[in-house]
Amino acid sequence: MSGLKPLIAGNWKMHGRRANLEEIPALIRETGAALSRVEVVVCPPAPYIEAARAHIGGAAIAVGGQDCSPVSADAARTGEVSAGMLRDAGASFVIVGHSERRSLLGETDDLVRQKANAANAAGLAPIVCVGETQAQRADGKAAEVVAAQVAASTPDDPAGLVVAYEPVWAIGGDRTPTAEEIAEIHGVVRAELSRRYGKAGEAVRILYGGSVNAKNAKEILAIDGVDGALVGRACLKAADFSAIVLAAPGAR
Ligand code: 13P
Repeated sequence: MSGLKPLIAGNWKMHGRRANLEEIPALIRETGAALSRVEVVVCPPAPYIEAARAHIGGAAIAVGGQDCSPVSADAARTGEVSAGMLRDAGASFVIVGHSERRSLLGETDDLVRQKANAANAAGLAPIVCVGETQAQRADGKAAEVVAAQVAASTPDDPAGLVVAYEPVWAIGGDRTPTAEEIAEIHGVVRAELSRRYGKAGEAVRILYGGSVNAKNAKEILAIDGVDGALVGRACLKAADFSAIVLAAPGAR
């Protein structure tokens, strides 16, 4: 870990219903005082953002969206949700450029950068996702691919920016990179952020994502250059997600 406050973000993806928001009070109970030492963000599907905020009450948990429109102003964009609307509903973060959207919906680095800029314009902190595919890693191209994604999909202004390194092949299964592989790519991301933003790049937190769970979190979160985690499946149950929060360095 660097000297940055650890950030643990839970990405519900398209899972759950309103009843699942009951996990939030349980998360608050189970994490307790750690919430002052670790920043925690829950990213439910957009229709539940406002209700998630209500369940959080005064606890130190933030809410994030999972995507936003690249267009900031109100516009004729059926089905799109603007960053300003997410903010109005109670979000303070938004995930952009998740690999599921890049691969299934064809989102490009350029579109992701526009979304991150729209997030900034609305006062939301963008969590920009990057990561190589299995084929790119097998070709020895992981570092090159990730550096190019960071260069082209991060916003013009680094204020509040978070980058999540999520190797595509590690998402949704049971494989994770080795500690050395994670440290190497986090170093690549950090170098690219410094190149792009200078000193301000040092304040950007770099999360690891892809099959983080209650069992492997402590080891992953202790890796040099890892400032937190972006968690999929294991964020859906308070027992698992709270164990990950409590595994962050300095949480206890
Ligand atoms: P899993 O933790 O389920 O592998 O998902 C990771 C992810 O894509 C988080 O954004």
